[in-house]
Amino acid sequence: MAIQFNQQSKVFTLHTKNSTYQMQVDKFQYLLHLYYGSKIENQEMTYLLQYNDRGFSSNPAEAYKDRTYSLDILPQEYSVFGMGDYRESSLQVVNTDGSFDVQLKYVSHEIYKGKKGLQGLPATYGTEDEVETLVIHLEDEVTKVRVALQYSVFEQLDAITRSAVITNSGTGDMYLEKAMSCCIDFTNRNDFDYITFYGRHALERQMERTPIRHGKVSVESIRGCSSHQQNPFVILCDNDANEQNGECYGFSFVYSGNFKATVEVDQINQTRFVMGIHDTGFCYLLQREESFVAPEVIMVYSESGLGQMSRNYHTLIQNNLCRGKFKNTRRPILINNWEATYFDFTSEKLVSIAKDASELGIEMLVMDDGWFGVRNDDYSGLGDWFVNEDKIQGGLKKLVDEVNSYGMKFGIWFEPEMVNEDSELYRKHPEWCLKTPVREGNRSRFQYVLDMSREDVREYLYESITAILKQANIEYIKWDMNRHLANVYSSELPANRQGEVYHRYVLGLYDLLERLVTENPNVLFEGCSGGGGRFDAGMLYYTPQIWTSDNTDPVDRLFIQYGTSFCYPVSSMGAHVSAIPNHQTGRVTPLNTRGVVAMSGTFGYELDINKMTEEEKEVVKVQVETYKRNYDTINYGDYYRLTSPYGKERFVAWQFVSKDKKKSLVNFVLTKPEHNPPILHMKLQGLEPKKVYKVVGSEECYTGEALMKAGYRVKEQFGDYTALQVELEMCE
Ligand code: DGJ
Repeated sequence: MAIQFNQQSKVFTLHTKNSTYQMQVDKFQYLLHLYYGSKIENQEMTYLLQYNDRGFSSNPAEAYKDRTYSLDILPQEYSVFGMGDYRESSLQVVNTDGSFDVQLKYVSHEIYKGKKGLQGLPATYGTEDEVETLVIHLEDEVTKVRVALQYSVFEQLDAITRSAVITNSGTGDMYLEKAMSCCIDFTNRNDFDYITFYGRHALERQMERTPIRHGKVSVESIRGCSSHQQNPFVILCDNDANEQNGECYGFSFVYSGNFKATVEVDQINQTRFVMGIHDTGFCYLLQREESFVAPEVIMVYSESGLGQMSRNYHTLIQNNLCRGKFKNTRRPILINNWEATYFDFTSEKLVSIAKDASELGIEMLVMDDGWFGVRNDDYSGLGDWFVNEDKIQGGLKKLVDEVNSYGMKFGIWFEPEMVNEDSELYRKHPEWCLKTPVREGNRSRFQYVLDMSREDVREYLYESITAILKQANIEYIKWDMNRHLANVYSSELPANRQGEVYHRYVLGLYDLLERLVTENPNVLFEGCSGGGGRFDAGMLYYTPQIWTSDNTDPVDRLFIQYGTSFCYPVSSMGAHVSAIPNHQTGRVTPLNTRGVVAMSGTFGYELDINKMTEEEKEVVKVQVETYKRNYDTINYGDYYRLTSPYGKERFVAWQFVSKDKKKSLVNFVLTKPEHNPPILHMKLQGLEPKKVYKVVGSEECYTGEALMKAGYRVKEQFGDYTALQVELEMCE
């Protein structure tokens, strides 16, 4: 039993393979957090609670004259604003009478095997053997605000998910001004490092690590989507935690809109962590008996370093978050025409790319931006989802049939959430945009954002996309989003509901995606937002892969893919080989290196293959064969970061090991070439120590132990950014 409840002491204990999470209903029926960390059996952690008189920390009415009982000091399971806890709150309400007070007390709980979905939101799922759920019902006796805290325990993966459902069971309207998903109070620690992933367009998820300190540190997005600038995934870990050692707690928010993740060290060195929807621009009206569902947070605990934490996230996201046929079937190697042609293409050009690509073993052509409406640059056309026959001569079916005749699948690009002013759609429905009627809206890439909270907008998009899918044999959709939200105002909602629009936008997006992915189970969806600007666990519920970045430079990708790998599996990261000089950085790198780096993702090409020399085409053929041969190891195996691109080593290396440990693929890129250099060793991981591994294509054989303890000796590399791959096979 992963979840236990002690009737006498009223202690809840959640056990995973290596962790324990505990809370207690106390003498006043408050739900206190007791412990989250390394597994502790047969012990209730109530002794960690401190009752001391702390000046200026007030005492609730029930405590009467007991100055040692304060909500400002005691660890809370779901912190509230207004009742004397001055630390970061999880819930903030405005009651019917205008007051802020909210006092949550335990009412009841239920425990069941399995896990239920979250209304309108993406969430992890699992069988009754994989996951067990606890729901704790809290209530404010006076206002009848109810909160159901939900915990699901994936025991084998050291993962616990949290979410909350807030219901207004009172007598009038109330507003939610903040409704976070997860709150953890570490009573015994203030010595964590906070690891976060910042970035910008074309340089997403750069890792940053700082010790926490008194006061608050937040990472957040108020851009209407999860953003390039900060990712909704963070880690708290020991100051000396590394890939293989140390305690780490990961927090991944299963949501694609505004978010905030705050860590706070309080006056007596306790640490609080709160994650959920950002409260800026958020004010949600709850009428009587209405509920608000706060999205899920996936927490993963590891006491053996960051590597194990990441591998558990990868397994959970692949098996218990991604859905549909493509979670387990091999996805096609694609070629995308964006960097080959940008807007300037015709069917003839696309077919000639498809033809050359098919001869090299590439399996799908993706037609990117520019095939619809009047779209020869980014000034016009978005919203007009009908084929531009000046470019696609003879129509979509003719093009797709021709591409298919070379044995190639066909994929297509959409940016459904956007509209250009210069479009038929905007001329017909200006009120479908997010903007106030009295002011001109902000443009970004010359486009406005459609109001996804509106059913008519979603219906139009559903009909337009479905009509395109019906025209031809389309097997893939790239779903792009190329600006952030501003002037967030829905012409359909009254003044007192405008604080709901950010969230309703995300719910609308999910609603449309849900409809399209369920009705088109054979279509592979790839998420995208100017590259990896919406790379989050929420999107992965609908699109099992996401374009990782608009930056295809393999050297920058070493950093971007490294940062992304802390939470997200390799099978979710779109990665393509592009031309040199690289279009984003101007850097020149060997074709082999571009292939090695792109193979650590859902592999593809993004260049004009018609312009490649015969010699280059031979290299592509080998890359394609290598990827296909190692597909299962890369996509379903375990991932190890051997070095950090931020580290002192002269190279960046990472490794895939098949689940049965019989195969491994080691990847190496030289980042700092030196004259007359010292010997290079890569210490491998995850192998069977006592087994012998053969290096494929050579006579070299080594024990797993030797490769892991002494390392694999890399032959000296010469030149900038050379790369190599070592394929290992276990000898029987
Ligand atoms: C941004 C994407 O990330 C690119 O790959 C490309 O699809 C462009 N948008 C097209 O406008």
